[in-house]
Amino acid sequence: MKKFNVGIIGATGMVGQRFALLLADHPWFTVTALAASSRSAGKTYKEAVGARWAMKDEMPENLKDLMVYDATADIDTVVSKVDFVFCAVDMKKDEILALEEMYAKKECPVISNNSANRKTPDVPMVIPELNSDHIKIIEAQRKRLGTKKGFIAVKSNCSLQSYVPALYPLDEKFGVEKVLVCTYQAISGAGKTFERWPEMIDNVIPYIGGEEEKSECEPLKIWGEIKDGKIVPATSPKFTAQCLRVPVSDGHMAAVFVTFKNKPTEEQIKEVWKNFSGEPQALELPHAPKQFLNYFEEDNMPQTKLNRDLEGGMAISCGRLREDSQYDYKFVCLSHNTLRGAAGGGVLLAELLAAKGYFD
Ligand SMILES: NC(=O)c1ccc[n+]([C@@H]2O[C@H](COP(=O)([O-])OP(=O)(O)OC[C@H]3O[C@@H](n4cnc5c(N)ncnc54)[C@H](OP(=O)(O)O)[C@@H]3O)[C@@H](O)[C@H]2O)c1
Repeated sequence: MKKFNVGIIGATGMVGQRFALLLADHPWFTVTALAASSRSAGKTYKEAVGARWAMKDEMPENLKDLMVYDATADIDTVVSKVDFVFCAVDMKKDEILALEEMYAKKECPVISNNSANRKTPDVPMVIPELNSDHIKIIEAQRKRLGTKKGFIAVKSNCSLQSYVPALYPLDEKFGVEKVLVCTYQAISGAGKTFERWPEMIDNVIPYIGGEEEKSECEPLKIWGEIKDGKIVPATSPKFTAQCLRVPVSDGHMAAVFVTFKNKPTEEQIKEVWKNFSGEPQALELPHAPKQFLNYFEEDNMPQTKLNRDLEGGMAISCGRLREDSQYDYKFVCLSHNTLRGAAGGGVLLAELLAAKGYFD
């Protein structure tokens, strides 16, 4: 595989730090530029992050002394050093739309963790095991942007990256009619640690701004179809969601209730999960988990602390599948929100795009 130089926009943040670690020994991608706000610009990465380093592993040695650029003011320098960028910034929606489009129009592809472009009809929102075919929309997007190489591709919200992977292959076989989901989301999903958010210790907050709308609507784009240069969202399955912030550092759990068009047996559901794999597995992408969907038979599994790091935090853990009195079945599932749900999902998407020649 050809090697690529990459930049991290928002490198000092929670997701940016994850990117820095995931890319430290990447076989295809080398980090050659870091960028953040004007507050960090001109400092070394180590100085700019300071006490905010929230990862268990040390900051990669080769990045410590790299100078952080201003993502906007220094765009030409950043673009000159990289083949594409990962982007995870805490900015207003219209500012993110402008920033990402500016990079794409400078022929620098953007792999984004931000929500701003998720609803843009010609921007693919990809969970690589599920809807890898949506990357074909990039051709139409490049036409709109007037670019040869530049484009924007996004990953979906972290909340849904446990239950949508579990439901997607079941829908193909049995038709998923409706889904009720409650998510129990880690504080790193808000870019926080317990030190920086002590109110979360011994607490649950039953509100995460915008999360329920994303958890209900984004799955429909993933289930959508490309028509006339747009991804047209599906109209089913129907989702309803409640999202709670819980006192957990990393890992989003979901409790799922589902009704099918053709009700399968429990064994059929487990069989589908066991046998499901996608393009990342077929292409043996570096961050593809070998077993994407993992079912735990024990009544008290999966557990956030025990299972979130399964296969480098890129695998999904499911458990407690049983019949329900109002829906057909209920079960729980878990994914690591800053790995599979954020930086890891972004890296896997970039690997898919690299393998398919989109950065050439
Ligand atoms: N945390 C998660 O689990 C998760 C999951 C999925 C998606 N996301 C999304 O990823 C994005 C980042 O989240 P996060 O949790 O990493 O946030 P965060 O920890 O608050 O980090 C925010 C980053 O944005 C940078 N930034 C702020 N204003 C900027 C500006 N004007 N220009 C350039 N950079 C700017 C910050 O740089 P400075 O240090 O210089 O201020 C910092 O690097 C958000 O859109 C979030 O919704 C997060």
